[in-house]
Amino acid sequence: MKTRTKLLLGNWKMNKTLREAKAFARESVELSALAMANNVELGVAPTFLCLEAVRKTNPDIIVAAQNLHYEPKGAYTGEISIPMLKEIGISWSIIGHSERRQYNGESSLSCNRKVLAMIENDMTPVYCCGETLEEYESGITKAIVRNQIRTGLSGVAKDKASRIVVAYEPIWSIGTGVNASKEIAEEVCGFIREVLGEMFGTTVASEIRILYGGSVKPDNIKSYLSAKDIDGALVGGASLDIQSFKALLENIL
Ligand code: PGA
Repeated sequence: MKTRTKLLLGNWKMNKTLREAKAFARESVELSALAMANNVELGVAPTFLCLEAVRKTNPDIIVAAQNLHYEPKGAYTGEISIPMLKEIGISWSIIGHSERRQYNGESSLSCNRKVLAMIENDMTPVYCCGETLEEYESGITKAIVRNQIRTGLSGVAKDKASRIVVAYEPIWSIGTGVNASKEIAEEVCGFIREVLGEMFGTTVASEIRILYGGSVKPDNIKSYLSAKDIDGALVGGASLDIQSFKALLENIL
């Protein structure tokens, strides 16, 4: 059984121009050396425009796309395909972030096509799940998350599933400063591992990394990472500034 390497991934969303992204990438060189020395994986998810520049500026940081299309090419105006990403050396992508589900009509079913296309291409999907405030208040978090995981990761072969990363992000905690308590995050991430176990077997499930996301800041990241089923964090706002990103990393070493 493989051990789960800690992962800190910054989701830049629609932030940073190319110039700003390059400046961050230059400053991150030192951070990725620190991460590597401490066996932590460090990554950022810039916009498509900045992917190649960030990768070239810091070859030691994981560079993830924020989305991709499941077809390799064709009449899909405004989309970016896997071969396009692979050609510039990108092998990771966030899939099914709640903002894409909310503003771009993505569903667990459409995410599943993306996940399967990525797995077929030996890429690493960071598959996002999480409930709305209303669902949380109705006490149906687990049912929602189970359905998102079972649908979104359906059909992934057991021998390929361990490369998947799952991010649990309660929607009510994203960008709101209202983060889920460690106890809630721990319980849901533990539940996600159970669902993964039903799908892929307990050994594979024990190798899949599960991240918490939603208002993660330098002062609360450590507490999440101390939960046994939380292997890292997907961070939006607090990943944009290099000093804050550095503090996030230092607080989990
Ligand atoms: P946040 O975003 O850290 O700004 O809450 C997290 C995310 O959307 O991945």
